[in-house]
Amino acid sequence: MAPKIAIVFYSMYGHIKTLADAELKGIKAAGGDADLYQVEETLPQEVLTKMYAPAKDSSVPTLSDPKTLEQYDGILFGIPTRYGNFPAQFKAFWDKTGGQWQQGSYWGKYAGVFISTASQGGGQESTALACMSTFAHHGFIYVPLGYKTAFPLLADLSEARGGSPWGAGTYSAADGSRMPSAKELELAEAQGKAFYEAVSKVNFA
Ligand SMILES: Cc1cc2nc3c(=O)[nH]c(=O)nc-3n(C[C@H](O)[C@H](O)[C@H](O)COP(=O)(O)O)c2cc1C
Repeated sequence: MAPKIAIVFYSMYGHIKTLADAELKGIKAAGGDADLYQVEETLPQEVLTKMYAPAKDSSVPTLSDPKTLEQYDGILFGIPTRYGNFPAQFKAFWDKTGGQWQQGSYWGKYAGVFISTASQGGGQESTALACMSTFAHHGFIYVPLGYKTAFPLLADLSEARGGSPWGAGTYSAADGSRMPSAKELELAEAQGKAFYEAVSKVNFA
C-alpha cells in the first residue's frame, strides 16, 4: 500500500509555505501525494500586526488535533527557526501530544524536516538537531535528506543557498524580503521525492 504523507508547517511570512509546496511537488514527482497542514497560531492579532505578518493561507487546514497525524506513515515538518529551535507555535502543538507520546501513537512513523532562517549561520542545522529530541521521545524515525540524491546541489557554492543534508532550507533575510531561490526550491523538491521514495520502501500493510 502507498504510504500516507503529511506536510506540517508553520509559516509567518510565507517562506516555509513556499518550500512546503516544492516538497509536495517532489512527492508527486515520485508518484505519491501529501496533505498539507499548518499548526495553530498562538500569537494575538495585535502582535502579528506589529510583526507585519500577512494573513494566513486559508487554503491549508489548521492542525488543531494531534490525533489527525495518527493516520499518516510519514510526515515532513516545515520549521521557520526561532533562535535555532522550533517556533512557539510548533512547541504548542507538540505540547498537546502527551496522549500520543504515552500511547506511542507516532512510534515508527517517518519524519523529515525543512527549515527557514533569516541568514546563513542562523541555525538551520541546530534547528534540525533540536527536533531530534522530540522525534526520539515520540519514536519517529528521522529520514535525513543526505547527500546521495542531492550531491550537486549541496556541493554548489556558486551562490548563497539554504539547506543541508539535514533537510532543505531557505534564507528569508532579516526583513523577510528574500524569497526561496530556484536552487532552494529544487532542493526542497528533491527532498520531497527522496523522502517519498525512502518511505515507500517500507511495506505498509
Ligand atoms: C522571534 C524570532 C526569532 C528568530 N530567530 C532566528 C534565528 O535564530 N536565526 C535566524 O536566522 N532567523 C531567525 N528568525 C527569522 C525567522 O527564522 C524567519 O522570519 C523565518 O524563517 C521566515 O520564514 P516564514 O516566512 O516561513 O515565516 C527569527 C524570527 C523571529 C520572529
